[in-house]
Amino acid sequence: MVALSKLALVSAVALLVCWAYQATQPPAPAILGAPGGPPIISPRIRLKDGRHLAYREEGVRRETARFRVIFFHGFSSTKESGFPVSQELVEELGIYMLFFDRAGYGDSDANPKRSLKSDATDVEELADALQLGDKFYVVGCSMGGYPAWSCLNYIPHRLAGVALAAPAVNYWWPLLPANVSRTAYAKLDVRDRRTFWIAHHAPSLLHAWLAQKWFRVSPIVRGERDAFTGMDWEILTELWRKQRESGQVDPAKATQQGIYESLCRDATILFSTWEFDPTEIKNPFPGGEGVVSIWQGYEDKIVQVEIQRYVAQKLPWVRYHEHPEAGHALPDMDGVGDKIIRELLLGDDEAPRGLQLQNDLHQDG
Ligand SMILES: *[C@@H]1O[C@H](CO)[C@@H](O)[C@H](O)[C@H]1NC(C)=O
Repeated sequence: MVALSKLALVSAVALLVCWAYQATQPPAPAILGAPGGPPIISPRIRLKDGRHLAYREEGVRRETARFRVIFFHGFSSTKESGFPVSQELVEELGIYMLFFDRAGYGDSDANPKRSLKSDATDVEELADALQLGDKFYVVGCSMGGYPAWSCLNYIPHRLAGVALAAPAVNYWWPLLPANVSRTAYAKLDVRDRRTFWIAHHAPSLLHAWLAQKWFRVSPIVRGERDAFTGMDWEILTELWRKQRESGQVDPAKATQQGIYESLCRDATILFSTWEFDPTEIKNPFPGGEGVVSIWQGYEDKIVQVEIQRYVAQKLPWVRYHEHPEAGHALPDMDGVGDKIIRELLLGDDEAPRGLQLQNDLHQDG
């Protein structure tokens, strides 16, 4: 009897070890362009390490543009999602817009060595391959916010201006005070907390966690209703409906190489312990020759306002705009996309510097 239960225990442990080992082995990615793999249907540039980045150009022609802007898409998204800027503004200001699939998403090759730094050098190499000139503007939305921080840290000399729209925050930024982190973390749904905890403390298990079916995973990661405010949901369901109807966005394309190289890498890099802290970044424009802005909704359930305010307070050269009613869909609200771009490109001296907590999005109409 005793021997039997011991045997059962040993078998159970062996099974568990075996499962844990398998769980930590990354699945083989689907190879772009290979037989049976997803076809490559976008123009791509080749990087120094042999990988390719897929891109999409919009707006006025690159050669004649007055402004050249590179956009970083969010989580589980691609270059097809675009950015909500009006055609009138694009033509009025002469804006060339470059969208690209971040490494491992869409038609861009996966990068097994992906890091905060490689995300910045990818952008630099892309800009050089397309001859965007010495300096260019960058706009990072949501999860595309952290590559924008990377650019500010690693390639500030290449930047003409930076806008962060509802940029993702990391509860484990090295210099984030524990009380700020705790307050923000406590506001999350318990399923999000569990998932983010795994992304930080046991990143090699994140893929198995997201792939399992026994426990419900994060509404934020899944993009479910619970992750959004009522207003977000209205705006986004309408946006997604339009995107589906136009056929421009294929929701399956973001993760066509598998979620390991796209979603898991994104989440584990964002929630890792960074080698730099955003609050220690030096002002890239000490002479006021460029704008760095953060746009945040007070009601955002995905990106907590407490952390955003803390970072903005520490960086007096960042223009912080907080909308009292907006959630995570802030950039997609009427006219907000144009305001973000107008301030980024024209400076607009009316806009106050530093932390501003009142509603400045509505002041000028
Ligand atoms: C964190 O603690 C500091 C100093 O004690 C305090 O000023 C700040 O308001 C606290 N922040 C939060 C979000 O609790």
